Parts: sequence; structure tokens; C-alpha cells
Amino acid sequence: MRFSIIAICLLINICASAQTSRPAIIPEPVSLTEKQGVYNLNENSVLYAASGNSDVSRVADYLQKTINTSTGFNIKTSSEANTNGIILALNSTADNELGNEGYLLKVDTDKISINANAPAGLFYGVQTLLQLLPKEIERKTAVKNISWTIPAVEIKDYPRFGWRGLMFDVSRHFFTKAEVKQFIDDMAKYKFNLLHMHLTDDQGWRIEIKSLPKLTSVGAWNVKKTGTFNYFSDPLPNEPRDYGGFYTQEDLKEIVQYAKDQFINILPEVDVPGHSLAAIASYPELSCTPGADKYKVNSGEKFMVWPPKGHFYGLVDNTLCPANEKVYEFLDKVFTEVAQIFPFEYIHMGGDETARNFWEKSPQIKALMQREKLKNLDEVQSYFVKRVEKIVNAKGKKLIGWDEILQGGLAPNAAVMSWRGIEGGIAAAKQKHEVVMSPTTFVYLDYMQGDPSIEPPVYASLRLSKTYQFEPVPDGVDAQYIKGGQANLWTEQVYNMRHLQYMIWPRAFAVSEAVWSPKEKRNWDNFADRVEKHFERFDIVDKKYSPAVYDPVVTAKKDAQNLPIITLATEIKGLDIYYSFDNSFPDKFYPKYTDPVTMPKDAATMKIITYRNGKPIGRMMAISAADLKKRAGIK
Ligand code: ACM
Repeated sequence: MRFSIIAICLLINICASAQTSRPAIIPEPVSLTEKQGVYNLNENSVLYAASGNSDVSRVADYLQKTINTSTGFNIKTSSEANTNGIILALNSTADNELGNEGYLLKVDTDKISINANAPAGLFYGVQTLLQLLPKEIERKTAVKNISWTIPAVEIKDYPRFGWRGLMFDVSRHFFTKAEVKQFIDDMAKYKFNLLHMHLTDDQGWRIEIKSLPKLTSVGAWNVKKTGTFNYFSDPLPNEPRDYGGFYTQEDLKEIVQYAKDQFINILPEVDVPGHSLAAIASYPELSCTPGADKYKVNSGEKFMVWPPKGHFYGLVDNTLCPANEKVYEFLDKVFTEVAQIFPFEYIHMGGDETARNFWEKSPQIKALMQREKLKNLDEVQSYFVKRVEKIVNAKGKKLIGWDEILQGGLAPNAAVMSWRGIEGGIAAAKQKHEVVMSPTTFVYLDYMQGDPSIEPPVYASLRLSKTYQFEPVPDGVDAQYIKGGQANLWTEQVYNMRHLQYMIWPRAFAVSEAVWSPKEKRNWDNFADRVEKHFERFDIVDKKYSPAVYDPVVTAKKDAQNLPIITLATEIKGLDIYYSFDNSFPDKFYPKYTDPVTMPKDAATMKIITYRNGKPIGRMMAISAADLKKRAGIK
């Protein structure tokens, strides 16, 4: 009896510790088998990488530097084959299952091996290995008194999609070369391989074009404003236009190489014919409504109108004129230089959100429509896109654009980036065009990720659990046309790297899993556990992330007395919710939420907080009675 109790306790203990210590890899690998024991990384461990391949050597150097920095060891690399230590090796015969980016990682008690068909696979194997090490491996200075153990595992892994992207809008706010590199470092850790740089917009032109110097002497600068974008006061004529910046071609070449060293391609975007105010402020003759001194780079003051129903329109003409031959000469110059800087096979022409109210009234556009037999403005836009495609193809590049390029007929070879939901992607795939899925509904990282009462205000909300449902291949679509997916970080309201990190993480974890991991491995609870482990990795290096996943989801409907009935839910398990209606701060001695609650008639505010294991974990939320009534549809 005594023995069996001990045996059961032991078993429970083992089970419990196996559960808590299950490796928390993001994105989840294709297969992971846990084995007995651990590998003890120590100062005598050696890193073996076959010589003769500079990419393999670089991956080995990356691993060596990362390990030595945080452990304080002086682990050496060697090109000699050996059976001990950490071995990085390319397969002599390709393992077809692994493809170009897959790897096989084996951790045994006496050695570690990473095998791949190509260096990219070794790099991803290294990323997984680093995630198996204690979180302190993230540190940039040596950490003492840590046992650097790695659980024995066998992992076979390869990506679901070849296009695993993040878009970084460096136009709305300029981010320095060093900040872009930091962004790249973080992407690589989660096996993203495509950085889409949104380089031009109404608020700034960020890429040096040597043949068009005003694009950066004029177009890269606006007036610094603080507050809420789109609600800023109009800049005064004498306010300095000294906020912004741009990348020289040398800067961009350096960024391209830096990314390539971590197996990341860079997709450059020049957004035309809309979103072009910075270009027009530099060269007003590019608009259908030219005029000296008429245009200024936007500083966040309102210049477009977005009615809840009906078409958006511009208060200022921010579009290039499709009827003007000078525009195509301009774009030829731009894309000649862009193509020389970025080796990636695609160039993004934007194409989104073109306000056409100035085209409507333009005699030049009317003449173009007559000459080219264009029936409407969709066809005018399509005429423009087709001409841009010819220019881009002539530079040896393929064209990709936002899904508006479908309007009026797609250019013959263009790929489509589907952002207004997945419909554009479905339509393009049906026309046998390549598609990258990046719908607002799942992967817009500029959206608020928690309750609007507590988040910096932006247009819409998108919680982590919703992003985790991102599925790049819609039902009924031929998967061969879906190149993959990406998440987009627009930066109208993102002024610095701290907030940028907050907006990206943890939702980019979910995106990495959607584009890398097998679809059948999706499991929210398991993912949420791993996310929390990665929060610890972020904490240790003071990297910011949003804790919104700990805050409740608050919904309301109205009761018979026209009062809000409030439902509180949590995205992750194991949280207790406490609330108050008397303006004081709730804690664990307050009413604990179990069922929907009706707001007392005279309440002014509902305050809510979550706890786990008796400790506060969510943020203190305060939602006004007026807001709750609005949510409940009470007038
Ligand atoms: C977009 O979000 N306007 C592509």
C-alpha cells in the first residue's frame, strides 16, 4: 500500500514535470519526440561545422556567438567531424521531406546534431535549439550560475509556406537602420523569411532615388506632431519640417545583406498611384492637379475622408496621374534604382486606397479614357497598373500589389496581396495568379489587441486568439497559388520601437505558426502555454509585448430594463475575474465573476481585473457606463 502510494506520487510528479517542461517551441515543429535525459552545454562543448560553405560557417558563427555571449563560455568551432558536441551538417543526399528550409535536430545526452539540405534549414534548426535552452540564452551579457541544459529530443521540421512575411511601415514614422536590423533579428527567431518594407506613403518617402533627389530632400520630411494621428492640427507655414528621414542606397544594401545573412528576403514597396503625397510634394507635376507650393508631405492632419458607407475621397490630391506620361518616366527611374538595390524577385507597387475624386474631374483623365477606350475609373486604375507591371517586368522583376489591383482587370503576371479580407486572394487564385494572404481580419498588427478601453486607440481590434485562427488557404482554393501569408504593421500610431514591439508580439507568434506549422497541429491552449514561456524570454531582455491576452473580453447586451448585461470571458484558461461598479479598484476580495452581471442603474464605471493563483495578472480596466450601454446597443 505504502509502496503504491509512493509509486503513484512519483508517477504524478513525473507526469506533472513532463507537462510543465514540454519544450515550448514557436512556431510549433512538424514533429517533436521527447527522449530521456538532457545535454549539458558547458565550456568544453565544441561546435562542429563542415568547412567550405560560407553560409554554413555563418550559421555556426551565429550559434557560437549567441551561446558564448549569454553563457560566458568560450566554445570553439571546428571543421573536423566528431561525434561529440554540437554538429551542424548539410545532408550529402537530400531528404526531400525537408526541402530547402527544413531540418532534423537531435539532442542526445552526449551530442547534438542539426542536419539539413541547405544552410537555411541549419539556421532554423539553430533557432529551435536556442529555444530549447534556458531563457537566459537571450541575454546579451554572461549569466552565471545557470545549468545550461537542453532536453533530449528529436525534432523534424519544415515550413508549410515559402512566404512567411511581416510588413514594416517605415513611412508613417521613420525607423532607423539599426531599428530595422533589430526588427530583422526578431523575425529570424520565429522563422519569418520575408520582410516587406513599406517605403513610401503620404507621410514620407524613405528610399534614396539618385535621379530624383527631391523625393528625399523634400519628401522624407514632415512636422513632428504628438497625439493621435489623423486628428493633428494643420501644420503652420513656419513650422520646421525636420521630422522623418530616409535610407541611402548604401543603407538599404546593408539592410538587404543583413537580412540575407538571416535568410530573410526584403520586398520593397513603392505605393502608387494613391498614398503618393510625399512624391507629389516633391514633384507636383506628377499629379492631375499640379500647382507650385500646393502640396506638403502629410504630418498626420486629416486629408482623406472615410465615410462609414460610400467611397472614401481625398481633401488633397495624393494620387499620381495615370494620364500623364511624365508619371511613367518617373516610375521607370524609380523602379530602375529599386531593382538595383533589392535582389528579391518581386517589387510591390502598393495600389491600395486610391482616392479618385480628383481623377473624376480631370480633363486629362477624360482624354485618356477616350483614347484608350476605358469605360470607368476602375479601368483607368487597371491601365495604370498594367503599365507599371511592364516597367517592373522590364527591370527583371515580378509585380505584386494590394488587392485593389484586381479592380478593372488584373495585369497579366501580377501577384496579389489580399488585405481587405481573403476575397481578393480567392479571386486572384481563381484567375491562376499568385497570392499572399494578409487579411485585416486576422493579421493586421496595427489593430488594438485588447479591450478598446485600455488600448491606444486605432481603427479596429484584433485579439491574439483571432490571429491564431489565421488560415492562409481558403476552402475551395487551389493551394498551389497561395504562396503564404504575412502580417502587416502600419505605423500611423507607432512612434517608437517599444510600442512597435508591443504591437507585434505576441500576435506575430500566432502568424509564425500559421505560416510555418502544419495546420493539423493548431491547438489554442497549447499555443497559449508556449506564448507565456516566450513572454519570459522577452522579460529577461526587457523586450516589450502586449499583455492583453490576460485582460478579459467584455461584451454587453441589454436586459428588459434597458440596462447592460455584461459578459466577461478570458482568452486563456485559469484566470479569475474580479469587478466593481462603485468606482473603487477591485481585487481578489471583490465579487468574482461567474455569470453575466447586470450593471446597477446608477453605476458610472465598471472596473475589472484578472488574477491567477491569487496574484493580479491582467491590467486594471475601467469602462464607463456610457461605453457599456453603447456596447449593449442602448441609446
Ligand atoms: C492597406 O492596408 N491599405 C493595404
